[in-house]
Amino acid sequence: MFVPDIVGRVGPKYKVLADVFEEAVIRGELKPNTKLPSQRILSYQLGVTVGTITRAYQELERRGVTVPVVGSGTYVKDKVKTQEEYYHPIASRGGMDLCLCRPLILGQQKRLSESLEALVSEPNAQRAVLDYFISDGLQGHSTTLQTWLNERWQWDLDASRLLWTYGGQHALSVVLQALTRSGDSILLEGLCYGELINTCAQQERKAVPVAMDEEGLIPDDLALQCQRHRPRLLYLTPSIQNPTGVRLSDSRRLKIIEICRRFDVLIIEDDVMYCQPDERCSPLVSIAPDITLYIGSFSKYFAGGVRVGYMVLPSTLQPAMKQALRTSCMHVSPLLLDLVCRWLSNGAMEQVEEEIARELKARYRIFYKMFPTHKRLAVSGFNVWLYLPENCDSRTFKNELAETGVFVRDAYFFRVGSYPVPNAIRLSLTGPVSRDELKTGLQFIKDKIAAWRRL
Ligand SMILES: Cc1ncc(COP(=O)(O)O)c(C=O)c1O
Repeated sequence: MFVPDIVGRVGPKYKVLADVFEEAVIRGELKPNTKLPSQRILSYQLGVTVGTITRAYQELERRGVTVPVVGSGTYVKDKVKTQEEYYHPIASRGGMDLCLCRPLILGQQKRLSESLEALVSEPNAQRAVLDYFISDGLQGHSTTLQTWLNERWQWDLDASRLLWTYGGQHALSVVLQALTRSGDSILLEGLCYGELINTCAQQERKAVPVAMDEEGLIPDDLALQCQRHRPRLLYLTPSIQNPTGVRLSDSRRLKIIEICRRFDVLIIEDDVMYCQPDERCSPLVSIAPDITLYIGSFSKYFAGGVRVGYMVLPSTLQPAMKQALRTSCMHVSPLLLDLVCRWLSNGAMEQVEEEIARELKARYRIFYKMFPTHKRLAVSGFNVWLYLPENCDSRTFKNELAETGVFVRDAYFFRVGSYPVPNAIRLSLTGPVSRDELKTGLQFIKDKIAAWRRL
């Protein structure tokens, strides 16, 4: 037990005691979270009144050195962390990140504080969002999503076809779990969102690549792979492909639906990637709702940390999907859903979407100025697919950049099975936090490409 030595010190006893304790904390003799001696024992050992000790402990608390814990005693405070330290990402590698495909944080902070403030004055809402879902969630959340989707896409959707998830990746994982078994084949675009490839591997599903070109998935190859592998599912990103940015052409949409019907294959339509409002196109699920599971998310439209997504399902799949969702997480946090639904109903979601579009347009101007011969994209999402000189392998190029602190994704990252890898890298225009940082990064990449061309 630490017994403070107050011999020879002058001044009021409680202050002297507080000084001695504080100095011991600063020296490290009393470590964070150490319990201070009981007041009664200390008063006996030092020959002072319990009241003096109580005042000394109050003084320590006032100075921010200790904290009282009800029913337990007084403890040395944990090291005071600055906000910056506290909220620093654990795995931050620094440098210039052109990998991270995310919406920049623009007006979202204001929207968050407005919604939290509103929630503070609504006790019924607070009670509801702190509880378990009894069955399917909260009525208001479900109808808010239903109304928002019906207005956005001119649908006439029944709320019973909707299911909340923790974002797009969670939805994909749950779909695979619910509708396929170990060893089943799943058809994917030859170059595909990397985390889905990992999910297939982890769940022991066989990921089969389907060929693609600048119009998207190639129907003839789809038919061939259906014949060969008898898959249960086809995964598709028709509105904007990750990583290539290609949009599936209208004529191919109908062909693909026809092939999937012929081979009894369900389509997972991933519409998570950000599309600017003037470039949005109607999803496949509008044409083939009976065989399509549509996946949406607010991660790329509002903020990556929000982790809320949803599925639009054929009614027949609802029971299986609900069961799989329960197995995976019981239900999505109503607190998160409540925030998202406030943004859906007060127009915040659309305003943030517009803000992102404005920032993205400015960033594309920077990109095209730097790479004037790059093909103008029909859909301009967060990512650009950049072909490299033939003599420069994309993995080597990526590693060279990484050594200098500039991070991009090479084509191998997106490769399904043994699909031929093009010599390209994916750049995220929204990875860098500022336009100036983006300019610096792009200039660096341009100079490196020029150096390879001279070889
Ligand atoms: C094509 C695609 N689908 C799904 C996801 C996952 O989305 P979420 O962040 O909502 O889980 C990503 C994330 O990058 C993606 O690129």
